[in-house]
Amino acid sequence: MTNSAATSERFYLTTPIYYVNARPHLGHAYSTIVCDAIARRKRALGIDTWFLTGTDEHGQKIERSAKLAGRTPQEFASAIAGEFRALWDRLGLTYDDFIRTTEDRHKRGVQHLFATLRERGYIYKGSYTGQYCVFDELYVDGPPGTPCPDCGRVTETVSEENYFFKLSAFERKLLEFYEANPDFMGPESTRREVISFVRGGLKDLSVSRTSFSWGIPVPGDEKHVVYVWLDALANYITALGYGSDDPADQARFAKYWPADIHLIGKEISRFHCVYWPAFLMAAGIPLPRSVKANGWLLFDQGKMSKSRGNIVRAETVHEVLGADALRYFLLREIPFGQDGNFSFDALVQRYNGDLANGYGNLVSRVVNMVHKYFGGVVPQHTENWTHHGGDLLAKSAEQRIHEFAKAFDGLEFSRALEAVWDLVAMTDGMLTSNAPWKLAAKEDAESRETLVNCLVTAAEAIRIITALVYPVLPDAAAKVWRQLGLGEIADAAKQNFLTHLAWGGLKPGTKFLEPAPLFPRAEKDAVERMVAIEEQNNKSVIEAAGGAAIPEQPTPKAQPATPQPPESKKKAEKKPMEETKPTPAPEVTPAPTASAAPAEAPQAAPVTPAPAPAEPATSAGTEEKQYIAIDDFAKVDLRVAQVLVAERIPKADKLLRLEVDLGYEKRQILAGIAQYYEPEKLIGRKIVIVANLAPRKMRGLESNGMLLAASLPPDGAPVLAGFLEEVPLGARLK
Ligand code: ME8
Repeated sequence: MTNSAATSERFYLTTPIYYVNARPHLGHAYSTIVCDAIARRKRALGIDTWFLTGTDEHGQKIERSAKLAGRTPQEFASAIAGEFRALWDRLGLTYDDFIRTTEDRHKRGVQHLFATLRERGYIYKGSYTGQYCVFDELYVDGPPGTPCPDCGRVTETVSEENYFFKLSAFERKLLEFYEANPDFMGPESTRREVISFVRGGLKDLSVSRTSFSWGIPVPGDEKHVVYVWLDALANYITALGYGSDDPADQARFAKYWPADIHLIGKEISRFHCVYWPAFLMAAGIPLPRSVKANGWLLFDQGKMSKSRGNIVRAETVHEVLGADALRYFLLREIPFGQDGNFSFDALVQRYNGDLANGYGNLVSRVVNMVHKYFGGVVPQHTENWTHHGGDLLAKSAEQRIHEFAKAFDGLEFSRALEAVWDLVAMTDGMLTSNAPWKLAAKEDAESRETLVNCLVTAAEAIRIITALVYPVLPDAAAKVWRQLGLGEIADAAKQNFLTHLAWGGLKPGTKFLEPAPLFPRAEKDAVERMVAIEEQNNKSVIEAAGGAAIPEQPTPKAQPATPQPPESKKKAEKKPMEETKPTPAPEVTPAPTASAAPAEAPQAAPVTPAPAPAEPATSAGTEEKQYIAIDDFAKVDLRVAQVLVAERIPKADKLLRLEVDLGYEKRQILAGIAQYYEPEKLIGRKIVIVANLAPRKMRGLESNGMLLAASLPPDGAPVLAGFLEEVPLGARLK
């Protein structure tokens, strides 16, 4: 089997559909922005493009998050799906369709796919007893207690009657397919990983669940719901109209399927490169042409994710520096396919260096000079201008057009942008060496001619640069296009202007508009402002959710997160923006318990945390840090315990009564976390307690210990401490 039909003049690309268990963060924006940039370029090349995104709304994870928030799954899903869509609109992302898996069109398509797989003999009924990770919605091999190989969380044992998909029948076919289509998966690391997974052997896959109901009913056997990954992956075809009787839907499906690129994050490549092609082969549907994985956006030294709590929101960057700045940073800073750090410092540096001082400044210089020396009208230049670097620039620009296209279309966005910024630098250099501001003061004919030629050449270079960067910087490109007197760049894009982009398009007599600022230089407080917005955002999320969403979505750490070099090196490399590095990270403190906090009052972190000093508190001039001796710490008996019972206490809406097992004894603890944790969710969970606190009585009940939790600003919302590895009960922390 091959998928190598030459890409025709239509292009279909998709993002993953995002889970609606929490609001979007920069990681989601990253994949969606990459797709938007690709879609914009394809359209401007005259290719009929369809760009799909959407939300993944079924499954146990969403059902539980909704419950935690005290809402129905549908209400909960609609609220978060609305946030995704609103954010994409705010960022100006040009998706053609937004699919929600709770829509009828999708349900119908999934049921059709399921029925087709069953009819073709690839689905049978059996029973499954094994481990399941609810967080990743993943079946996991191994005995009870096995951690999830993806996220490390403890898996749950499920025992259910299920429908199974004959995945094992596709092992050889998949390997043959990968071999015949070397460009199907990328980057190379993903390709290797997927192939080795398949070579390791494929077992049949359970594709239905009966222990919960938030999903699409299996046609003809409605006590089963379709496994959430079969449901989710099908979005790529149901959104086009697969399974519909409507001729318009059928025509859209016929036109755009197979997809040219499924753009995904690398952690879901197995689902897209193994399960999805196998489902499609089994159903007799052509396979997508490629699956390309972006690397992870890291923040605070880990993958940015809601469960780690180290997220930054796209809105924040948008508000302070604009959507273009975010797009540019993500595409320029991180070689596509690799992991990359996000930090506010690096963002501001790129913004000031490349956008404000680079492209923005070049445009403003040239547009201003054309106004000043030629009344804003492009003068007639000398044909075949070969002096003073003009011809060199023209040749370089032609080269850059090809380099950019090759790199960008090969998803090497960073390299593509680098090529354009070379042209920015060359144009700057050409202006500096000709010094038009000096020439303008001279009256002789040669000076006049050089002045004309160098400004027209610079303006033409700007036109080329702007056309190339349009998919990445659509707002700025639109402004520059207007300033160059070329009208609306969106109209130019509709007329496929990138297909005939070549040196020499700026015509004499073109009237420039007044210069307008493009990228005002970011002031020193830009980083602080973004951090402050993050804190404020987080506060409103906590309030809006009544605290319920906290365990899934804790406060981001405010510190920029490029891995920190050793202290000595750090000082040597200190960049100007680091001066403004602010704010405290959430501290690890005991969760409010009856022993630790006044009755029922969740222990509040400082309401407005004071900015942390840029250097450790031991620096000269700052207060000496208060240390404790190791013996003092040793007095605190910290132990691993497991929650056996968790329940609310009548008339005490902040307190939970827990019974915990320390291995060597069981005891009761009262904890002021009822506003943040549903009791059922705590049962079975391993936590850390202070085991030697003096007992204390409350509401007639004795509390024997205290839980440990991170206390998140601004109001001390607790996130319980736990372990990724298995730990025995009663183990001491020291
Ligand atoms: O996995 N860095 O949804 P999800 C880079 N519903 N990309 C990131 C990222 C990060 N730190 N965090 C998230 C699901 N992403 C499923 C997908 S598709 C049929 C079903 C991006 O909400 C990246 O594209 O967990 C990743 O694959 C996706 O968001 C995961 O979003």
